[in-house]
Formats: sequence, C-alpha cells, structure tokens
Amino acid sequence: MILNGCSNYGQPFFYKDYARYSVFEIIFVTNELMMDSDSNSNNIVSLKQANIYQGNTLVLNNVNLEVDKGEFIYMIGKTGTGKSSLLKTLYGELYLNEGEGNVAGFDLKDLTWQKIPLLRRNLGIVFQDFRLLTDRDVYHNLEFVLKATGWKDKALMKEKIENVLSKVGLKNKGNKMTYEMSGGEQQRVDIARALLNNPKLILADEPTGNLDPDTTDEIMQLLFNICRDYQTAFIMATHDYTIIQKYPARVVRIENGMVKEISAAGV
Ligand SMILES: Nc1ncnc2c1ncn2[C@@H]1O[C@H](COP(=O)(O)OP(=O)(O)O)[C@@H](O)[C@H]1O
Ligand SMILES: [Mg+2]
Repeated sequence: MILNGCSNYGQPFFYKDYARYSVFEIIFVTNELMMDSDSNSNNIVSLKQANIYQGNTLVLNNVNLEVDKGEFIYMIGKTGTGKSSLLKTLYGELYLNEGEGNVAGFDLKDLTWQKIPLLRRNLGIVFQDFRLLTDRDVYHNLEFVLKATGWKDKALMKEKIENVLSKVGLKNKGNKMTYEMSGGEQQRVDIARALLNNPKLILADEPTGNLDPDTTDEIMQLLFNICRDYQTAFIMATHDYTIIQKYPARVVRIENGMVKEISAAGV
C-alpha cells in the first residue's frame, strides 16, 4: 500500500451519536453544528499572525497556518522549539493573546472556560506518554471520557467503546488493565480515546516518541488509515525525520520562533 498524505473521502456524518446527549447537551451540540455550518469551508485550523507565549516569553512569532479537513500535517522542530505550545494553543490550554485563531469553528480569541470543553469535544488529543488512567481497565478508561463529555446511556456507551476499540485493532481488549499492555497497545488505547467523539481534528504530540521502530510503523499506518477513512485532519508533532520520509505528508518546521512550510523531501 502506498501512503502519501491521505486521501479525502466523503466523511460520514454521525447523526446517530447526537441522539446520545441529554437535552442540555443538545443545546450545545446544536450550537456546535451551527458554528460548523456557518464556517462554510473546508478549513479546520486557521492561525493568522498568531504570537504564542509561555508566561511572558514569546515562543512562536507570527504563526500563519491553515489546515483543511482531512489533511495530515507533520510539525517538526527540535525539543523546546514550541511544538507542544502550538498544539496547546489549538486545544485551548494556552490562551491566544495576539493574532487570530480558529479551530473547528471556535474563535480562539473568544475561548471562555465554558467553551473549552466544547472545543475539546470536536478534537482528539494523543500524547507521547499516553496519559491513561492506571487504576481501571481499557473499557473504563474510555467510559470515563464518554461520561465526562455528557454520555449517559450504558448500552450506547458500550456500543461506542466497542466501535473505537475495533477501529484501533483492540477488539476484545476492553478488560485489560492499561499497565498490562505494551507501549503500542497503550498508544492504540490513547488513539481510541481520541476517536470517541468523532473528531474532525486530532492533535498528536510526539505519539511515537516512546515506541520502537516496528510499533511506530504500526501506529503510523493506523493514523494514516484514520485520516483516510474518516477524513480526520491530523497535526502531528515529531522530531523523527525517518517517519516523515516513510510516510510523506505536508510538513511545517518550527525554527527560531517561526513556523515555516517545507516539503517532505526537504526534511
Ligand atoms: N509550562 C511552561 N511554563 C513556562 N515555559 C514553558 C512551559 N512549557 C514550555 N515552556 C517553554 O516554552 C518553550 C517551548 O516549549 P515546548 O512548546 O514544550 O517545545 P517542544 O514541544 O517543541 O519541545 C521552551 O522554551 C519551554 O521551556
Ligand atoms: Mg513537546
């Protein structure tokens, strides 16, 4: 199979999933749908002249970045250059003070604490260190997230959890404790968790950083398949250039506080 970026197939719309929310939730969900349809474009991330700070320190200067639905983008750069800071800005952990930003229809300059959970419900986040709960099994790790995002119906939650576990190749692994699993399996659980709310965008912060080369290959193939099959956009931070050569896609490089567009061939 040749993997090059990922193809844009039509994205199935998950009406059924919206039936799972309470009336209270539906008010917000309807609001989200309206925001999305208002945007009326293929754009999922837009940063314009954004300055990104950690405390008082300017980490990234004048960031301009446009990402379309279904695109796969690598963000490369040495440790400490600001990859995580940029991703944190996109999921609302760092506030955008200067410049313009829009993610999945949410204006980052207007991101009140009430809106942050709504933004995150439109995103999946995958971490290098997995961040799974070690006191419960895989199933209950996933159920915890569903409950926290408003799901109530046990049968529907079970169906959803089985669905995402199957997507990441972990069917029938729901009763495993996370500490019993290999790094690759834990990363699959992390990805399953990111898929729970059918995100249009997944932000992956060095998702293969703790994995051996063979497992890295398996995880990269999984990410590319998700991108292709569900038209999920990805921004993946990495400093592993061999991955990019093996799985080419659009690349942006962070250097000297700037974000530059480069080609996969140029890494
Ligand atoms: N919570 C924080 N408080 C203050 N400075 C931070 C914090 N997190 C990161 N930084 C600083 O911001 C810069 C960018 O860090 P980071 O975004 O984590 O880079 P990367 O992910 O590329 O390694 C570094 O100089 C780092 O020391
Ligand atoms: Mg980082």
